[in-house]
Amino acid sequence: MKNIAVIGTGYVGLVSGAGISDFGHYVTCVDIIDSKITLLKKGQIPIYEPELKELVNRNVRAGRLNFTTKIEKTIKNSDVIFIAVGTPEGENGLADISAVEDVARTIGKNLSDYKVICTKSTVPIGTGEKICKIIDDAMLKPIKYDYVSNPEFLREGSAVNDFLRPDRVIIGVNSYKAFDIMKKVYSPLFINETPILHTNVATAEMIKYASNAFLALKISYVNEIANLCEEVGADIHQVTKAMGQDGRISKKFLHPGPGYGGSCFPKDTNAIASLSIEKSVKMHTVLAAIKTNNKQKLRMINKLDSLINGFNQKNIAILGLAFKPNTDDVRESASIDMIDGIIKGGGHVMAYDPIANDSMKKYFSNITYFDSWEDACSDVDAVVIMTEWNEFRAMDLKKLKSIMKSPFILDTRNILSISLLKKLNFKYDNVGRT
Ligand code: UDX
Repeated sequence: MKNIAVIGTGYVGLVSGAGISDFGHYVTCVDIIDSKITLLKKGQIPIYEPELKELVNRNVRAGRLNFTTKIEKTIKNSDVIFIAVGTPEGENGLADISAVEDVARTIGKNLSDYKVICTKSTVPIGTGEKICKIIDDAMLKPIKYDYVSNPEFLREGSAVNDFLRPDRVIIGVNSYKAFDIMKKVYSPLFINETPILHTNVATAEMIKYASNAFLALKISYVNEIANLCEEVGADIHQVTKAMGQDGRISKKFLHPGPGYGGSCFPKDTNAIASLSIEKSVKMHTVLAAIKTNNKQKLRMINKLDSLINGFNQKNIAILGLAFKPNTDDVRESASIDMIDGIIKGGGHVMAYDPIANDSMKKYFSNITYFDSWEDACSDVDAVVIMTEWNEFRAMDLKKLKSIMKSPFILDTRNILSISLLKKLNFKYDNVGRT
């Protein structure tokens, strides 16, 4: 079993650290934020992620997982060091890797013997070389190490499952010794025959961006097809069902909606597009996907505007604030654009999300938040579904109609039954199904 350090206890670091300890290794998760480590030591989890608390507590109890702010000591005691700090979008759309660079410097200064240094954070292609240079410059005396790029493919809301049961593991490293060590880190997966791909560093970095940009492209494409369906009287669900039956296309990531959000797709598409421009091989497809996504978010506002004939002085319930279900993350969520549009149009927002109300308060403190959909929808002029939480799928539409002032509903996730909406005389709109 290996001694592993995971630096950064954000979303990626915490899930990875807990997951690796579940594989049987001894993991120390490090963060510079004292309050986070204190919370984690008490068995509390600073983010909402299904199954994470159980995973963390199980491994803490087994003595395989612990938390500290002492980075120097942890580096010295580890065989493998994972860098999993944040890389937010910086200026010009490129990722801001200053936190990764700081960690690399600290690792360099504290390197005492051979170690594998592995980046999990999503970093621009070419960052591997920069990190190695920083480590080399910071070292007090020359020490051998290997640098690995091991990108994560975790989806918020199902990150634990994605970590423990991945489709593939990418290990980008120019050394067989380090590849073998990394294979041991992931040995339960290796035994289960999960594909473990050995590439060079730049290829591993590219796989991450190429995958996310492709999925974003797929969503923007299907959103445009949905918009066209509306004009020609076609049904997007039947279209995507048939498309998905073609193995070359696959049925996944073919759901139309209000435009993708989250911490990855918007940031990663901007990063790869900016890189392509910098390298003079402009990616027109990715740039188009970004533009389409921004337009899709605006299209939802215009749909609502047309449905209810303007926002002025109207009370509008927004059901769902998170960028997708099972997370409290609202970053780049289409709900932000929707709320903004309603406020600019003179309307009032009644917001409800099963868990993301508090996250949205950081963006909008001046709208009204409720603790149930019934309260949010009471006496409103319209309801907009922005996130496909199960509790909205299961809403009693008869009851909904009875508590609303006017029966207008925009379903941007296509989760409500059209036949029932029709039967109950709702005035409704959706994406690609009218
Ligand atoms: C994504 C990638 O899936 C994951 O592999 C990567 O490591 C991180 O980025 P995440 O952002 O957590 O994960 O969520 P994901 O499930 O991919 O959804 C992203 C956005 O696309 C959401 O806003 C979602 O609503 C939207 N989406 C997704 C669609 O609109 N239609 C779809 O068919 C799928």
